[in-house]
Amino acid sequence: MMSDIKEVLITEQELQAKVKDLAEKIARDYRDKDPVLVGVLNGAFVFLADLMRYLDLSCTVDFVSWSSYGKDTSSSGVFRIMKDLETSVESRHVLVVEDIIDTGLTLHYLLDTISARRPASVRVAALLDKPSRRRIEAKADYLGFQIPDAFVVGYGLDFGQRYRNLPFIGILKPDIYAGRGTPPNEIE
Ligand code: IMP
Repeated sequence: MMSDIKEVLITEQELQAKVKDLAEKIARDYRDKDPVLVGVLNGAFVFLADLMRYLDLSCTVDFVSWSSYGKDTSSSGVFRIMKDLETSVESRHVLVVEDIIDTGLTLHYLLDTISARRPASVRVAALLDKPSRRRIEAKADYLGFQIPDAFVVGYGLDFGQRYRNLPFIGILKPDIYAGRGTPPNEIE
C-alpha cells in the first residue's frame, strides 16, 4: 500500500498531537454539557475513535451515513440518509465529527437536518479542510488541518474503499487513478 502513496502530507505523530489538542479544547468547551458526538460514516470513524479516547468528558456517540444521487459522493448535492441517528438530539449539544470538508455540501445538508431536530447547540469538528474546493458555505468550529486541493487517503479516508487503514494522511500517486483520467475529486 505504501508504494501507492506519492507523499505523506500529515504524519501519524502530527495527527495524534492535533487530535489530542482538539479533544482538550472540546473537553473545556463542553464541560457538564454531556454532548452527543455524531460521526459521519464512513470516513470519520478513525478520527472519531481517536478523538473520543482523548476526551476527558461524559459524552455519547452516534453515526449517520449519507449517499448522494450523483456519480461521486458530493457532486449532485441531493442527499439521501442511508443510516440515520439512533438517538434523539432534541435539547442535546451535538458535535458533528467529519473527516474532511471539501465542497461543503455534505456538511451543509447534515447541519440542516440536525438543526431541524431542535438540538441545544450544533458544532462541527473536522479533521481536514480543503477551502479551495468549497461550493457552499461550511465551516468547522474545531479544525485539524487546512490542506491544498489534492486527493488524500488514510486515517479513515479512502479511494475506492481502500487505504482507510493507513495511520497517516497521504497523497495518492496519480497512476493509481490514472484509469479514470482525472483525480477522484474532479469526477463530477
Ligand atoms: P463534501 O464535498 O464536503 O461534501 O465532502 C464529502 C465527502 O467526500 C467527505 O466527507 C469525504 O468522505 C469525501 N472526500 C472529499 N475529499 C476527499 C479526499 O481528498 N479523499 C477522500 N475522501 C474525500
